[in-house]
Amino acid sequence: RIAYVNGRYVTHSNAMVHIEDRGYQFADGVYEVCEIRHGYIVDLTRHLNRLERSLGELRIAWPMSRKALAGVIRETVRRNRVRNGLFYLQVTRGVARRDHVFPAEGTPPSLVITAKSTDPSIIAQKNANGIKAITVPDNRWDRVDIKSVGLLPNAMARQQAKEAGAQEAIYVDAEGMVKEGAATNVWIVDRDGTLVTRPAEHGILRGITRTTLIDIGAKLGLKIEERKFSVAEMLAAREVFITAATSICFPVVSIDSQTIANGHPGSVSQKIREAFFDVAE
Ligand code: PDD
Repeated sequence: RIAYVNGRYVTHSNAMVHIEDRGYQFADGVYEVCEIRHGYIVDLTRHLNRLERSLGELRIAWPMSRKALAGVIRETVRRNRVRNGLFYLQVTRGVARRDHVFPAEGTPPSLVITAKSTDPSIIAQKNANGIKAITVPDNRWDRVDIKSVGLLPNAMARQQAKEAGAQEAIYVDAEGMVKEGAATNVWIVDRDGTLVTRPAEHGILRGITRTTLIDIGAKLGLKIEERKFSVAEMLAAREVFITAATSICFPVVSIDSQTIANGHPGSVSQKIREAFFDVAE
């Protein structure tokens, strides 16, 4: 495997950043994960738009022009011969002697890009059987709209899910309303058959897959509502599913050991998944 690190393509095992990188010391950086399908980078423009927003909110400079960045991403994907998989991109505020205050103007940001193939059989198995989830209180900071590399709470929540025999942890706010997964957005098909997801303005990440599914749902003529929903409504829903670049649209069949609907993946999520791949290809 080959990684891109600050201007060079290096073998994965030799890909290093400096110990004084602010990403390492302060989680002072942002990232994107993007799907590659049949050699095509899915929703690249939207991912770069979100990267621009994350960088802007944290006042981190672009590591290079947007066009050059797209070129380096494509080259990293090509060098790793990824047809179906993911690329990971991370930009940090760069290397400087440890000090909470930002380094001097002109300190170059660090850029790392990796790409890897995914195993389609694992994804197919999750789609066929559905996944299990748990609910957890949201203990993150209030800027989760920024795709920051500060993911310790998310890692803790995923680990908690794993130890409970589940694959995702779903964050719940202080009012008992569903927020999002540790690394996914959450959707339900409500009792009226409406597709519901939380408004992106309210303490969640605006997922790219989420935005694309809103477009797809409209094309399929599905009724979509962006509104908050409670844990109780989720447990009583006709379907629950999660979306992310890594998991497009995984059905959730059990939450906190309670079975959702009849315990099998629902038809709406399947329809959406198929339509997603038509659009993406
Ligand atoms: N996570 N919410 C959170 C907290 C996320 O970390 C992610 C993505 C999403 C879905 O966003 P998108 O559809 O743009 O992938 C929602 C990535 C995949 C990760 O951390 O691996």
